[in-house]
Amino acid sequence: MSHFFSAKRKGHAVHSPFAYKLCEEVFYNTNSFYDFETLKEVRLSLARNKTELVIGDFGAGSKTFKGNKRKVSDIASKGISSSLQSELLYKLINYLRPATIIELGTSLGLNTLYLSMANSRAKVYSIEGSESLFEFATSLSAKNKLTNCEIIHGKFDAVLPGLLNKINSLDLFYVDGNHTYEATLNYFNMALEKRNTDSVFIFDDIYWSEGMTRAWNDISNNAKVTLSIDAFYFGLVFFKTEVKEKVHLKILV
Ligand SMILES: C[S@@+](CC[C@H](N)C(=O)[O-])C[C@H]1O[C@@H](n2cnc3c(N)ncnc32)[C@H](O)[C@@H]1O
Repeated sequence: MSHFFSAKRKGHAVHSPFAYKLCEEVFYNTNSFYDFETLKEVRLSLARNKTELVIGDFGAGSKTFKGNKRKVSDIASKGISSSLQSELLYKLINYLRPATIIELGTSLGLNTLYLSMANSRAKVYSIEGSESLFEFATSLSAKNKLTNCEIIHGKFDAVLPGLLNKINSLDLFYVDGNHTYEATLNYFNMALEKRNTDSVFIFDDIYWSEGMTRAWNDISNNAKVTLSIDAFYFGLVFFKTEVKEKVHLKILV
């Protein structure tokens, strides 16, 4: 709970102009977007979908699910980002306009819809290890007529190096799977090679386990990171060179 005590409200006490603007435009921006209505409908239809999928375990395991059969409705209610988190990602993309996005952990593909719809000019790559989830997400993206995202089936370790090789620069990296200390640091270090001064890397579930919190601390303290934002549900790091003095923020969302 220490998070809430040190959180700053409404961007006050934020001394970096970039971070201040970001707080106002993204975290404390209460505007709704037209796409949110469509995406809420999709979320609702997933919550009602009783199809059973057989899913292998590729990551750090789940605290919520046991066994390898899961209903889409259960995954939609317990295994994916909440509307609040997904809408924050949407607002972030809408504001920063990243051109190349990689998501680790597609699951049903709902967040992938938010990432892709937030900027139709962006190219979104999303990686998923489970074949049934990959197939489900691919058909969800086709149903929603998305043309700017590519869902890739495979383990992160196997797919990420080749994908990073293929792209020139990585503008937004969103890690939402395999929540172990080692894996998280490994993905961060791989992606660092393709960062630019405007990149943002986002790590979900930074308080999910002691290992994830340690990974977040190491990442936010990395010498190349100039600004870190701990938004409790996820942590964001930036590499802006105009930020001369490193800034760590905790914010309440
Ligand atoms: C928390 S879910 C992603 C939720 C999604 N971002 C959303 O909010 O809509 C994590 C996903 O990552 C996948 N995953 C975990 N570890 C993986 C690995 N090492 N390689 C490939 N996929 C993995 C799991 O199968 C799971 O579907």
